[in-house]
Amino acid sequence: MACKVVRLFLLINLLLQIPETSAIVPAIIVFGDSTVDPGNNNQISTVLKSNFAPYGRDFLGGKPTGRFSNGRIATDFISEAFGIKPDIPAYLDPNYDIKDFATGVSFASAGTGYDNATSDVLSVIPFWKEMEYYKEFQSKLRGYLGDDIANHHLRESLHLISIGTNDFLENYYIFPTRSSKYSVDEYQNFLIQIASNFIRELYNLGARKIAIGGLPPMGCLPLERTTNIFFGSECIEEFNNVAVDFNKKLQGRVMGLKQELSGVQLVQTNAYDKLLEMIQNPSQFGFENAETACCGTGLFEMSYLCDKMNPFTCSDANNYIFWDSFHPTEKTNAILADHVVKNALAEFR
Ligand SMILES: *[C@@H]1O[C@H](CO)[C@@H](O)[C@H](O)[C@H]1NC(C)=O
Repeated sequence: MACKVVRLFLLINLLLQIPETSAIVPAIIVFGDSTVDPGNNNQISTVLKSNFAPYGRDFLGGKPTGRFSNGRIATDFISEAFGIKPDIPAYLDPNYDIKDFATGVSFASAGTGYDNATSDVLSVIPFWKEMEYYKEFQSKLRGYLGDDIANHHLRESLHLISIGTNDFLENYYIFPTRSSKYSVDEYQNFLIQIASNFIRELYNLGARKIAIGGLPPMGCLPLERTTNIFFGSECIEEFNNVAVDFNKKLQGRVMGLKQELSGVQLVQTNAYDKLLEMIQNPSQFGFENAETACCGTGLFEMSYLCDKMNPFTCSDANNYIFWDSFHPTEKTNAILADHVVKNALAEFR
């Protein structure tokens, strides 16, 4: 009798577990720019770094890791929401190895873009090189888990891409190299072509779960507002419109790729609307300030200008949407990650 009860119990347990195990994502694998770089730039020679205080002052252990925030970034929260781990390490960080990377890794580099010319500006890791690192990671993973398990693991892992703002704000609108050659419309198409080639390559390498992020309301980043200081520091409408257009085009391309790549689960994650809603109604989300950043004067500081010698840094970053003039606070990252997990990424859970 007792034996039957135990068996019944095991059976029920098993039945209850099936939906969960069949949907499991064993790892989050990340590509992109500073929005999702946990510290790869610490290991390369660029001026674009953030592995010093006050960056990271609200991170696990208060450690400045190279994340461009006071705490965790969106992909850390996504990893946690998927029940994997609370933070995703940087691929180039020598303190981690394939055992850690097997459950989540980021190849992202702050300051990079789809366009090779963007990563050249601050000598950071080009997007194509992130793919090279990913291939190296795949072969290490096969060595670690064996071919069959590794291939299955890669197929089930969620591949996240978050990039593109720098192509406009650090490249197109600053230097003539691209803007003299391409209209905004043509440049958007050029970037989207690079994005689709990247997705195709991921697919050809065995990835089946892929999410690509659109652009944020980049005209509302504090640094951009500062350049608009003679016009009341309003958001730069033109940049926001470019982001909206880009996101629409990307959505169209994502639809096309879903048709083309059989068996792919491909989604676009869009934080544009949520972030704009937060910027327009900060108090609804518990923020006091949406216009300037916590670090320094909040008008222009980031990277080395946002350091512990800067006397103006705010005491509670939770009151601010932005941590430095270009990057959200941990609290903003958590809200955006939660939104993305419950909407675009819901089908992967
Ligand atoms: C970017 O550079 C890499 C390496 O040189 C090259 O393979 C790739 O074709 C370039 N991408 C574009 C869009 O020009």
